[in-house]
Amino acid sequence: MDIDEILKNMTIEEKISLIVGAGLSKRVPSAAGETRSIDRLGIPSIVLSDGPAGVRISPIRIGEVGTYYATAFPNEIVLASTWNRDIVEAVGRAIGEEARDYGIDVILAPGLNMHRIPLCGRNFEYFSEDPLLAGELAAAYVRGVQSVGVGATLKHLVANEQEVNRFTINVIVSERTLREIYLRAFEIAIEKSKPWAIMAAYNKLNGKYCTQNEWLLTKVLREEWEYNGLVMTDWGAGDNPIEQIKAGIDLIMPGDEKILQSLLEAYKKGLIDEKIIDERARRVLELILKSPTYKGHRPSNKPDLDVHAKIAYEAAVEGFVLLKNNGVLPISKDAKIALFGKGSYLTIKGGLGSGDTHPRYVVSIANGLKERGIRIDEDLEKIYTSLPQFWMLRFYEWIVNEVVKGGDIKPLCSSIIEHFDSFVRSSGINVDEYLDDMVIEKAAREDDVAIITVSRVSGEGWDRSGGKGDFYLSDSELNLIKKVSDAFHKHGKKVIVLLNIPSPIEIVSWRDYVDAILVIWTPGQEAGRAVADILLGIVSPSGKLPLTWPKDLYETPAMRTYPGVPKYNPQYVVYEEDIYMGYRFYDTFAVEPAYEFGYGLSYTKFEYSNLVITREDNIIKIRLKVKNCGQYPGKEVVQVYIRSPRGKLNKPFQELKGFYKTRSLKSDEEEDVYIEIPIKYLASFNGALWIVERGEYEIRVGSSSRDIRLVGKLSIDNDICFNKRWNIVPCMD
Ligand code: BGC
Repeated sequence: MDIDEILKNMTIEEKISLIVGAGLSKRVPSAAGETRSIDRLGIPSIVLSDGPAGVRISPIRIGEVGTYYATAFPNEIVLASTWNRDIVEAVGRAIGEEARDYGIDVILAPGLNMHRIPLCGRNFEYFSEDPLLAGELAAAYVRGVQSVGVGATLKHLVANEQEVNRFTINVIVSERTLREIYLRAFEIAIEKSKPWAIMAAYNKLNGKYCTQNEWLLTKVLREEWEYNGLVMTDWGAGDNPIEQIKAGIDLIMPGDEKILQSLLEAYKKGLIDEKIIDERARRVLELILKSPTYKGHRPSNKPDLDVHAKIAYEAAVEGFVLLKNNGVLPISKDAKIALFGKGSYLTIKGGLGSGDTHPRYVVSIANGLKERGIRIDEDLEKIYTSLPQFWMLRFYEWIVNEVVKGGDIKPLCSSIIEHFDSFVRSSGINVDEYLDDMVIEKAAREDDVAIITVSRVSGEGWDRSGGKGDFYLSDSELNLIKKVSDAFHKHGKKVIVLLNIPSPIEIVSWRDYVDAILVIWTPGQEAGRAVADILLGIVSPSGKLPLTWPKDLYETPAMRTYPGVPKYNPQYVVYEEDIYMGYRFYDTFAVEPAYEFGYGLSYTKFEYSNLVITREDNIIKIRLKVKNCGQYPGKEVVQVYIRSPRGKLNKPFQELKGFYKTRSLKSDEEEDVYIEIPIKYLASFNGALWIVERGEYEIRVGSSSRDIRLVGKLSIDNDICFNKRWNIVPCMD
């Protein structure tokens, strides 16, 4: 259909109806939204659904036999820890397929806000503190989703780094910081993946709601970046739909009659031009015309969950980060394991809120180990599995079965049922503090190794508290770690801690007690299988931290201004740390973190050699060799940091400018690594232009931001300047 023709045939009421969503989806229960159809013109409604960890729809439908489970993929923080574009793209593709098979046209993912503070309740849905890593991986995710003809949505544009007062908080941030960090991630992702949609954030940006911010939505996004996809609001964002449409929003979500009427009235009073409405309606139409629904795709409701489970496993196993290992890992398959911690049995698959998922199952750590034939201490298992949560989960399964059999469960129950599983798994009831010393002693005598899982859950709508039992261990967790370590060490046995968490916790005060620490984050439904394979050495860990792990919460630079002013019920927050966020702060001001950005151990060792750096036109070409010189097969993440010369602008000590994950290398096997870095990536924003200042740049290639193996130089003789569209322009003094 020709869009101009359609637009010509539409009444103003119809055009406005297109740019205001129709509320929650009616076609696909629990999908987050739907657009309005115009039957007269053969324009169908399309369905939008969350979210980053997989399709979030109701797993059951009242009155229908059959289930609608979706794969729970690892959260984005896990995907980011893989540093592997291919695996992230594969996850995106699988999510796209599930979406298409369940009748979803647009996925509301990936999330692309920055890890500015460890406490943000949605960090699990975001990739990193670094815009290059985040932007590149978000692009891979989007390419994956869109490769099957389903749309992806980058969200939330921009500076949505906390949940406290997320609907109204005014984020004050310098333009340089915005452009180099927070916007940069979106800019890279847009350039490399052309997402069908972008979601503007709830918060205000320098005084104006993002959804009502013409500078952001029109000047930067449309004029400078030439983005031509659709821009929607976050659900219920902002306070003025007329301003939203004028500022550059194409689709107001979830939308209601009141908004529709207010736009119509505004049009009648001459407050909005028909041309603007036409432009917005055109974008919605363009999206609809690309959608599976418009193309006549009929949902099979039968995605290949088994194949997708394998992809979820692959992504999880590559996203675990080994922080410490004094030789205990990998463990022997004959070892008998004492499994402590509620999370060993009720493993947290992901975060809560719109980024939650409803999978067929979650493989707990205990079950993952058992599947691999590992013996676990049955007495401990009995203690933990007598927790009331297990009874509740069984009750849940019963209800689901009743529904699936067509039983008479009232519709009211449906949404309770939907969230029950995640709620139960994350509920606080624990037994650690009641564990008898005798139980621990007996386990230390009889078992070969102890594993303690520490778990945390976070979610949309609230930030983590930062207190004990959250950023810090609770007294009972600390006691458990101490007691188990003492008892096992007394018997010459070792202790491993698994961190089943959505973002960092304090680690320095207790890490010396234990022998190994593995971060498994919130790894999705295949959790236990991936854990078992890493513990047994079937796969060597290859995840690297996508963020700096602080020694203490209050060393995080942004904690100085978090959550804003006033402290209780903050109205605004100033990103005072400026560009010095994450490792840019720790490296520049020589602050020692607990673990640096890019850090992660392996069971094997890699040797770097033969660094060659050349420049061709405006591309820096980096070649080197990486060799596995250890005993286990493994993958390595090669990271390229660039240190700029001292110029007019202050700059961080170094910045990530390229990365590459090798294939799995066997002992003694070598891979030629080739990384391209566009020269524009060296530019800093000086308030008007992007500038690559002349001088000698240090190219630092390593295995983490503080484990640099090879260093080379690159000279730039004259300043190079770019305008905001990245065209080279004369530099002005
Ligand atoms: C969240 C979005 C989500 C939307 C629809 C909002 O509250 O911030 O990330 O996509 O709801 O569920």
